[in-house]
Amino acid sequence: MKFFIDTANLDQIREAQDLGVLDGVTTNPSLMAKEGITGRNNILKHYVDICEIVDGDVSAEVIATDFDGIVKEGEQLADLHEQIVVKVPMIKEGVKAIKYFTDKGIRTNCTLVFSAGQALLAAKAGATYVSPFIGRLDDISTDGLNLIAEIRLIYDNYGFETEILAASVRHTMHVLECAKIGADVMTGPLSSIEGLLKHPLTDIGLEKFLADYKKGN
Ligand code: G3P
Repeated sequence: MKFFIDTANLDQIREAQDLGVLDGVTTNPSLMAKEGITGRNNILKHYVDICEIVDGDVSAEVIATDFDGIVKEGEQLADLHEQIVVKVPMIKEGVKAIKYFTDKGIRTNCTLVFSAGQALLAAKAGATYVSPFIGRLDDISTDGLNLIAEIRLIYDNYGFETEILAASVRHTMHVLECAKIGADVMTGPLSSIEGLLKHPLTDIGLEKFLADYKKGN
């Protein structure tokens, strides 16, 4: 299972990278705005900065919603760095653009996916990743993890190579449940990764080992 971090914050990306378990980064326009990154040139530079910190894939989202605009923007993003994956929304023009990018060998992440039908369409268009937003489904009393399970079943039925990127992960249990279901990737905040570290018996056990060592030395 790959671990991506869902942020545009360079310090958090560095921290996750230093932990040694980071496989990539996802961003979106809201995450960019949260870091105060505005203006096309600054945004493009920020994507390159992120690519220079991590070894893996970095999703960069298009703003255009028409086919020609998505293609133009996506090609510009893909040209920025070999690690860039073009993030395209699950809309009709987006599906057409994903197929176009697939045929040109440009990797894509189909975002804003909330149903198994949308995920099937993304895979048919050849998306590299599909991003079902599990936290946002949970927010409206719909089981986000069940969507991951449905997509896993459909993709396995037909051998689709599109990777299931569980997005809008909010906490460590989302990560664990996605791992049990077989999501290929999860993207979440640093806290969702660091939460995996925690167990009180680890802390108690370490404290006792160190205390016992001190007694004899
Ligand atoms: O990757 C999608 C993600 O950024 C959405 O997360 O927490 O805003 O629902 P959230």
